[in-house]
Amino acid sequence: MIEPIKLTTRDEREQLIREAHYNPFLLRAEDVIIDLLTDSGTSAMSSDAWAAMMRGDESYAGARSWFRFRDTVQDIFGFEQVIPTHQGRAAEHILFGMLVKPDSIVPNNTHFDTTRANIEFVGGKPLDLICDEANDINSDFAFKGNMDIVALDELVKAEGPERIPVIMVTVTNNSVGGQPVSMSNIREISRIAKSAGIPFYIDACRFAENAFFIKQNEPGYENTAAVDIAREMFSYADGCTMSAKKDAFCNIGGFLCSNDAELALQERNLLIMTEGFPTYGGLAGRDLEAIAVGLREVLDENYLDYRLLSTRYVVEGLHDNGIPVVRPAGGHAVYLDARRFLPHIEPLQYPGQALSVELYLEGGIRAVEIGTVMFGSDPHSGDEKAARLDLLRLAIPRRVYTQSHMDYVLEAITLVWERRSSIRGMKIVKAPQFLRHFSAEFDWL
Ligand code: F0G
Repeated sequence: MIEPIKLTTRDEREQLIREAHYNPFLLRAEDVIIDLLTDSGTSAMSSDAWAAMMRGDESYAGARSWFRFRDTVQDIFGFEQVIPTHQGRAAEHILFGMLVKPDSIVPNNTHFDTTRANIEFVGGKPLDLICDEANDINSDFAFKGNMDIVALDELVKAEGPERIPVIMVTVTNNSVGGQPVSMSNIREISRIAKSAGIPFYIDACRFAENAFFIKQNEPGYENTAAVDIAREMFSYADGCTMSAKKDAFCNIGGFLCSNDAELALQERNLLIMTEGFPTYGGLAGRDLEAIAVGLREVLDENYLDYRLLSTRYVVEGLHDNGIPVVRPAGGHAVYLDARRFLPHIEPLQYPGQALSVELYLEGGIRAVEIGTVMFGSDPHSGDEKAARLDLLRLAIPRRVYTQSHMDYVLEAITLVWERRSSIRGMKIVKAPQFLRHFSAEFDWL
């Protein structure tokens, strides 16, 4: 795919971001020069995926495309029950709608915004149990996405299956730098979950990147194929939720898996009401075809090697310029540490948001705040507190940008860094109750 890049001037961007109420989500995409808002649904599909779409079988029930999709998912993920959804959050909505009750606690290494919101929406309490290394900006631990196993064990012993309907782990850990989770951590979570009789689900969005990190950094996996590492990861779980917009290269799609036929029956009843018939679930036959191709391509180790290297190129380039960035590099994105970038701005004055606006003004680059704007407000009480971290995420779409685009990004961030002391904090002018970062309106303090 080739897309035109429209170049804007600094003066034009001043006006465009003001009209978007200083929220990059509210910009028109064509007014963005390099779009690093997300790696979700923005990847370039291959000629094979496009070819597969041409044979999409759009039959309402039992389409050939469904069976190709189901067989591929079963082969890689290993679960019996496969439920297609229009994207990852629809899978979460159905799963949590079934399992979570008011006052339930759902632990995760770190919930992403939609999992958190879907749990809160049905009255549950999402709990982040991230390992200590993740909080140490200087640690070069290879698996900073890991769950805190001791904390999980204590929680499970204290609350039991009565209050914990499901334990989740997110691979890679999107909210904490796109950092991977080790196989041994997954194995430990599984052991704790099994011994307490609690189902264990993997939020699998970036499973292939996670598998390749395991291959590169976890002893014993050097010679194991990425696909077999992925199979082993899922073999420890009772189910998964997946967004095909990430590690399946697709523009849309997702699925929910388990080995629980009884639960899946109830989930399909909900699916029919909200998504569609169980053999297409909110997707066109051609989408099912593209996902089946993408799930195989994403496990190509030449691709994975290049993918992780290209993210590391940006992270190390920033680090070499003295710019505070989460290290070691994660898989899908570069995370600037906005609190250390702008130490004169308090968390409740949204340093990550201010940095996102400045980066747009500087280079027309769009990124997303992952910090106090995204996670700082309790949707029920309206109380606000600083998030654990204030990051600015620059997510890299798969197979889209080249090294010269990334050099431009490095240059723009460095220019903002050089004038950082003149950057002001921000305030929220207007915000909705749930998922406020998508539509909140801001202004400079
Ligand atoms: N889980 C994780 C870890 C995610 O990163 C996302 C989406 C979802 C679930 C939901 O999937 O978008 O298909 O409904 N993350 C995107 C992002 C939006 O920009 O990181 P979805």
